[in-house]
Amino acid sequence: MKPSNQLKIGLAGLGRFGILHAKVLSSMANVELLAIAETRPEPLKEIGELYGVERRYKEAEELIKDPDLDAIVIVTPNDQHERHCLQALATGKPVFIEKPLASNYKNAQNLKQAAENSGSILQVGLILRYELNHRIIHQQIHQKSLGELISIRTKRNLSRSWFTATAERVHTVYESSIHDLDLLLWLTGSKPISVFAHERRLGNHLSPEACIALIKFENGCIGITETSWFVPTGAPANVTTNNWKGCIDAELVVVGSNKTVQLRSLDSPLKIWDSSGTISPDSALWPEYNGRIYGALREELDDFVKCASQGVESATANLEDAVNGLHLADAIIESARTGTPIIMNQLL
Ligand SMILES: NC(=O)c1ccc[n+]([C@@H]2O[C@H](COP(=O)([O-])OP(=O)(O)OC[C@H]3O[C@@H](n4cnc5c(N)ncnc54)[C@H](O)[C@@H]3O)[C@@H](O)[C@H]2O)c1
Repeated sequence: MKPSNQLKIGLAGLGRFGILHAKVLSSMANVELLAIAETRPEPLKEIGELYGVERRYKEAEELIKDPDLDAIVIVTPNDQHERHCLQALATGKPVFIEKPLASNYKNAQNLKQAAENSGSILQVGLILRYELNHRIIHQQIHQKSLGELISIRTKRNLSRSWFTATAERVHTVYESSIHDLDLLLWLTGSKPISVFAHERRLGNHLSPEACIALIKFENGCIGITETSWFVPTGAPANVTTNNWKGCIDAELVVVGSNKTVQLRSLDSPLKIWDSSGTISPDSALWPEYNGRIYGALREELDDFVKCASQGVESATANLEDAVNGLHLADAIIESARTGTPIIMNQLL
């Protein structure tokens, strides 16, 4: 029998990332994964059977209407976030939604307003705030151990083979840089004043293949953020599943007046060489051992479950910052489009 104090969660979207959410949620002692939703019948059946979830919906909207749920987790594609999030917020229940919160700043503001109107807790998947190395850097900055913040440089370069899955769907700044824009807001703790960006296009896709932006913050810190989709197949694979693998070549360099901090995603000490190349398994974000997922994904869902159970906002995944991350993303895309610097308070 299920303990009565378990939070009854409904999970919508069982794609590459949703199945990881299902694995984490189904292993939590204080959670009952009561319902799942997925438009594709195979993963709905497979995940339902694997974790003994009997309530299976073909549509997120049907799951959201389930009156027995205590909280809702949304891991559907980006272009459906606003619709599903609005429906979920209308229930007044706590909602966790994967990044990016919305497709632009205006829509993100609308979602924040909808959460305020309904009294729902709205938590966005700002996963790097839950990763231990990033947390140590955040702590060092806020204990003033680095001295004055001079600059923060972020890089998130991804496997070229993944670009086709993204190119026509979403601008890369909303897809990949959004993680780093959140890091910049979180680590500086300051407001961005201006942005200047360039993008590089080799094809006629919705998304450019690369985008680099320079951001000036109110506290004087200079942010530089880079993303591109040119990592060759031969690079060490640090994102692997049963049927695909690839590389996130991410880097964070924080220069303070006293200290410099560097964090590189490919510096993991664990390397596995096989006939097709090198695998450098992720041990930070969602590493799996013995059927259990550890790392930042577990930490952030654990935070959501605690906050939802207690009816309080997350102290870590700040909603205002999630909304402001989209303001920065809009500014970068507009600057790259027009070739001119953008003053943040002049951008609606
Ligand atoms: N935090 C991170 O590091 C991270 C990593 C990967 C993905 N994500 C985010 O997670 C989300 C999902 O990404 P993904 O890679 O799993 O995508 P995906 O396309 O693999 O999965 C989305 C799933 O939602 C299903 N779906 C679509 N419409 C639906 C509906 N109306 N009702 C129910 N199910 C529906 C699709 O069939 C698919 O299985 C995205 O927002 C993405 O940005 C975050």
